[in-house]
Amino acid sequence: MTPLPDLDQPEQIAELVAKFYERVREDDLLRPVFVDQANINWDEHLPKLTAFWCKLELGIPGFHGAPTPKHSALSSIEPFRAEQFSRWVELFHDTVDRGWQGPHADSVKDRARMIAQVQSRVVRGAEPWDGA
Ligand code: HEM
Repeated sequence: MTPLPDLDQPEQIAELVAKFYERVREDDLLRPVFVDQANINWDEHLPKLTAFWCKLELGIPGFHGAPTPKHSALSSIEPFRAEQFSRWVELFHDTVDRGWQGPHADSVKDRARMIAQVQSRVVRGAEPWDGA
């Protein structure tokens, strides 16, 4: 079997982000936040999140957002739950594993788990998630 490629090109990050949010949109725990509550404009969100990961993982400038205030605004109305952070990370990891493997693939998974844990502690109203 041909080994999966590593996640080291912006086009691959864009593909990961598209696949991940396709699954988020269909998820019983996450869909209510993204679709029903935030009514996300996907044409803006997908390029933004691609830029976020390209900056973090590949060092490519272009992301100028701030997740914590956005998350806090939503969570202060309907608190983010630990099981939602856990599901977010589970879906993200599984989407990476289906398409990519290597040092960058491992690194984005580690970062996602770490950021989710930190967000669960700093986002207003959120229920802390221990990463399990
Ligand atoms: C319970 C888990 C999470 C939920 C329900 C969630 C939900 C959302 C929603 C609905 C938005 C759009 C807000 C808006 O535009 O008004 C958003 C933005 C964002 N989220 Fe999350 N998120 C979660 C976890 C994470 C994690 C773990 C990361 C990073 C690893 C992340 C990164 C971002 C970024 C970069 C933005 C864009 C911020 C900006 O527009 O400046 N999120 N999130």
